[in-house]
Amino acid sequence: MKFFIDTANLAQIKEAQDLGVLDGVTTNPSLMAKEGISGEENVLNHYKAICEIVDGDVSAEVISTDYEGMIKEGEALAALNPKIVVKVPMIKDGVKAIKYFSQKGIKTNCTLVFSAGQALLAAKAGATYVSPFIGRLDDISVDGLSLIEEIRLIYDNYGFTTEILAASVRHSAHILGCAKIGADVMTGPLSAILSLLKHPLTDSGLAQFLADHAKAAGQ
Ligand code: E4P
Repeated sequence: MKFFIDTANLAQIKEAQDLGVLDGVTTNPSLMAKEGISGEENVLNHYKAICEIVDGDVSAEVISTDYEGMIKEGEALAALNPKIVVKVPMIKDGVKAIKYFSQKGIKTNCTLVFSAGQALLAAKAGATYVSPFIGRLDDISVDGLSLIEEIRLIYDNYGFTTEILAASVRHSAHILGCAKIGADVMTGPLSAILSLLKHPLTDSGLAQFLADHAKAAGQ
């Protein structure tokens, strides 16, 4: 399963890249705003900076919600770097735009997906990735991982090549749940990725090893 980091923060992206387990980056307008990135030139330059840090795909979301606007924005984003994936919301004009981009060989990530039906449409339009938001479904007491299972079944039934990019991931249980189901990608905050590191028995076991070593060395 590929690990994408879900942030526009360059320091966190670099920390994840240096860890050696990072396969890509996802951003969205809220994550960009959180970093204070605004204005066309600043936005484009920030995506360029992200592409210089990572080796894998970088999702850059369009702001337009009309077909023509999405195409114009998406082509400008795609021209920045081959790593750029144009992120498009699951709305009617977004499905049309994904079809256009897929025919042009431009990678796409269909975002704000909350149902298997939406995921089916994204795959039929030729999306490179589909982003079901599991955390936000959990927030309304709907099992987000069940949606990943549904999409995995449907995509496998018909051999769709669209990759399931589990989004709105909040913690290690989401990551492991996605891995057990067979999501192609998970995108989460650095905290969720680092939470996989931690187990109390690892910490206590290492402490005991070091203490025993020190004792034997007469320290
Ligand atoms: C993908 O990048 C999504 O926009 C992101 O995972 C949403 O996460 P959130 O539900 O925590 O805002």
